[in-house]
Amino acid sequence: MDRVSLFNQSHEDMEAVTEIADGSPMAAIVFNLGYLPGGSKEVTTRADATLKAVTSALHLLGAGGVLTICAYAHEEGRREIDALRKLFATLDHAFDVYEVTVTNHTQAPVLFIVRKKR
Ligand SMILES: C[S@@+](CC[C@H](N)C(=O)[O-])C[C@H]1O[C@@H](n2cnc3c(N)ncnc32)[C@H](O)[C@@H]1O
Repeated sequence: MDRVSLFNQSHEDMEAVTEIADGSPMAAIVFNLGYLPGGSKEVTTRADATLKAVTSALHLLGAGGVLTICAYAHEEGRREIDALRKLFATLDHAFDVYEVTVTNHTQAPVLFIVRKKR
């Protein structure tokens, strides 16, 4: 546990992690969006907050770092996927963005993998 810090905060406040990182760039950032399987579907990540969180994460990521995002195809999740695709379309060549999904299944989750090259 001495290697772990827990923040009871929305992911849209991602910048808070800089407090413990002394401004060091992040090597890896992982998002698993959506709601808890078997839990309340009302408690789900939302496009506006996710967009803020991922925008912050792109700044926190260091050169050579990797960001992964698993997004799900429920109603709000589709909004998140659309918003993320639009955000990633604006990135310059400092980033490689991969999108992995099951193309013959309309409800399949989407995995985004972002590598910051420099
Ligand atoms: C797909 S699950 C991932 C769970 C866990 N982080 C993992 O990767 O195994 C998404 C989690 O985000 C939580 N969550 C979604 N929106 C939230 C919110 N607005 N505030 C707090 N938790 C939220 C859900 O309750 C759920 O536990």
